[in-house]
Amino acid sequence: MSETRQELAAAKLNLLLLIRGRRGDGYHELATVMVAIDWADTVRVSLTAEPGVRLTVSGDWEVPAGPANLAWRAASLFVERSGCHCGVAIELTKRIPPGAGLGGGSSDAGAVLRALRRLAAPAVPAAALVEWAAELGSDVPFFAAGCAAALCEGRGERVRPLRSGLVGSPVLVVYPGFGCATRDIYRRWRKSLTSIPPEPKMIIAALEAGLAETVGRSAYNALAEAVMGKFPILALIREQLAATGVLGTGLTGSGSSLFGLYRDRQEAGQAKEALAQRFGTSLTVCLASCIDPGGVEAAGWRSPK
Ligand code: C5P
Repeated sequence: MSETRQELAAAKLNLLLLIRGRRGDGYHELATVMVAIDWADTVRVSLTAEPGVRLTVSGDWEVPAGPANLAWRAASLFVERSGCHCGVAIELTKRIPPGAGLGGGSSDAGAVLRALRRLAAPAVPAAALVEWAAELGSDVPFFAAGCAAALCEGRGERVRPLRSGLVGSPVLVVYPGFGCATRDIYRRWRKSLTSIPPEPKMIIAALEAGLAETVGRSAYNALAEAVMGKFPILALIREQLAATGVLGTGLTGSGSSLFGLYRDRQEAGQAKEALAQRFGTSLTVCLASCIDPGGVEAAGWRSPK
């Protein structure tokens, strides 16, 4: 058995995020459709003889290298639950901006869990891994499952994997240069009196059939009003995206990133230039693709620009 494993930690986009109400435990009841994209971090996980978790971080963004990092906490939880009596060393290469609604930290944690299962405890059922993941955060189960797309319900932790007909489709992802505090955005959420949210089954059918245009038209995020109300610049960026040959735009998670779905890479590339002309270098814009993380070898993967 190999003692080191490298995993891709893909970002996610929420094509649909419905809020069904507030719960007694401080969370919100969700129905969200997520897809994985190839804007990704990588984690290299090794088993070590000396106990404990060691995390080193490199890459484009600074994140904590200790227990404040979900990747660290994922390793610690795995060791405790699996009883594998090993130490863990993690090398994290950070490319997904933190606090951006792209699920970067959650994806790192999911990737660490997947790697440790392979390395140290292959007998742990996939369902147990997803349960442990829910203790780390609402989005972590999606990433622990490692699927291309899923409908996630509850506070986000109940994952039903979906077939994605959009694997390979181009998406432009726009990070505005600042993050959103998830808790604060959820606190600002109010049930919309003006918009009627789409039915999940409609967007799921279009996603499975690969109908990018229908998916684009139906993209919906119940947190959009709260996020745009706090950060009006995001409404301007969204307007600019909408003025390109986009099939549809959306906000991912509780923000701050926006995305646009495109028919082809050329149109997406033109939109990227138009954004650069209007907003300069204050934005980080990534021309990414939807992926099936299970079908990507982390060692051969190249970061999109
Ligand atoms: O689960 P996670 O740690 O990612 O959630 C961060 C915060 O986002 C929670 O403390 C809560 O305030 C908010 N949240 C929520 N409802 C959800 C998911 C997150 O209110 N379904």
